[in-house]
Amino acid sequence: MTSTLPIPAPIPAPIPAPTDWWRDAVFYQVYIRSFADGGDDGVGDLAGLRARLPELARLGVDALWINPFFPSPMADHGYDVADPRDVEPVFGDLAEFDRVLGEAHALGIRVTIDLVPNHTSDQRDWFAQALAAGPGSPERARYVFRDGAGLDGTKPPNNWPSIFGGPAWTRVPDGQWYLHLFAPEQPDLDFTHPEVLADLEETLRFWLDRGVDGFRIDVAHGMAKAPGLPDVTFDEETGIFDDHGPDDPRLDQDGVHDIHRMVRRVLDEYPGAMTVGEVWVSSEERLARYLRPDELHSAFNFRLLTADWALADLRAAVADSLDAVGATPAPACWVLSNHDRPRHVTRYGGGEVGTRRARAAALLQFALPGMAFVYNGDELGMPDVELPDEALTDPVWTRSGGTERGRDACRIPVPWSGTEPPYGFTTGASTWLPMPGGWAGLTAAAQDGDPGSMLSLYRAALRLRREVSGGLEWVPAPDGCLAFRRGSGLVLLLNLSGRPVPLPEGQVLLASADAADGQLPDDAAVWLQA
Ligand code: GLC
Repeated sequence: MTSTLPIPAPIPAPIPAPTDWWRDAVFYQVYIRSFADGGDDGVGDLAGLRARLPELARLGVDALWINPFFPSPMADHGYDVADPRDVEPVFGDLAEFDRVLGEAHALGIRVTIDLVPNHTSDQRDWFAQALAAGPGSPERARYVFRDGAGLDGTKPPNNWPSIFGGPAWTRVPDGQWYLHLFAPEQPDLDFTHPEVLADLEETLRFWLDRGVDGFRIDVAHGMAKAPGLPDVTFDEETGIFDDHGPDDPRLDQDGVHDIHRMVRRVLDEYPGAMTVGEVWVSSEERLARYLRPDELHSAFNFRLLTADWALADLRAAVADSLDAVGATPAPACWVLSNHDRPRHVTRYGGGEVGTRRARAAALLQFALPGMAFVYNGDELGMPDVELPDEALTDPVWTRSGGTERGRDACRIPVPWSGTEPPYGFTTGASTWLPMPGGWAGLTAAAQDGDPGSMLSLYRAALRLRREVSGGLEWVPAPDGCLAFRRGSGLVLLLNLSGRPVPLPEGQVLLASADAADGQLPDDAAVWLQA
């Protein structure tokens, strides 16, 4: 497959002045453990990221979202935070973070980081204090401790399931139970305690004062639980990635919006700083509530992440998502893959078919109005890798009793160069998750000079996207195809019809597959200037 344009030259991109830089920005998600290792321990780190920043500038991204790099015992690979205002030694230190920030900014790349407000690690000082101070103490009130049910308190306080499997309660030696919506190593905080909110504000200011450009907010529909902690009434356990409506007392409760208002008040003191929330709720209306003018700047839209590769699904994903944000000040925010979900190459069928569709999906994603998130490795067309049981590290695997394999498959380290594992990822011999053989052609180095590679397609699309602006208007398309025009004149045509279709009028800017004969193949997309 070839793209119609040669690899573009890198373009200088000084940090633009406007405070709403993020509204049509392309963010690159750095899953820090898997992006690049600056040493030899086989775990990605900040030094590795810093060394690769020029390549991200060449890719053409506007901003980074770096997954948690804070001190953590790694029960959930960093989402169990022991100190929200420091750096985990495996990843570097604060001075290294400052260098990443400074060098990214010098390259015109903004830096956003992960904020994990819903829970802490059980190794945070607060949790030890809560255990030591005992029932009824102010220290214990920072978390959600309750007496058990049943005559002797040996049953959990209510029937809430943990999102990672098993009950959401764990008993401590003095008999009380504490709540953890995720792993037992991730106790939930109680945001009705003023110190908890004050601590979150301190964390925001700590990083904003260092110069970060914003935050991705983890489980942004969590933090507030229904008063009285009533039992859940649904029969089936819903997972984190299922939608949570107001009937689920664990999530999407009204009280959460007060927390977002506090966060917004702090961010408004730092012009240009932004938030993007991870919000899994049951309807577009519920999502819009998080995007009111005094709450989140934006929220991930997961419709492209969950849609099937089918015309009706993709079209509805786009239309519904635009409707959802239409009545809010927020732009849409498109995601094809992330560290929690199977990668889209794999979702779309894997192999050659999956890759062909992923190329087309990239042109769809980048033609849409709003923000776009690229998960590290998307630009190489990385697939999921099924690992043997003994290599699995996700707590979901153990918590589910081995019934859910978890998320390791989409977190394999990025292949940079060479012909064998570890493909330039580390100077060491092995990697924290094993890398497969057969990836010589997938590395960034192998794709760099190939005009037909996924990497070249991403670079070309991100460069051309800088000229694209304006609203989206659906335009007529052949049967089985989807087409829209942006205000600036870009037309996207996506062919899902099962056969080639004639190219419409206009100058071809970029195609995901060879369209030189005037026909767009099946499972392909084209950008035209009309
Ligand atoms: C979010 C993260 C996920 C993590 C969970 C608990 O959904 O994306 O990786 O396990 O929150 O913090």
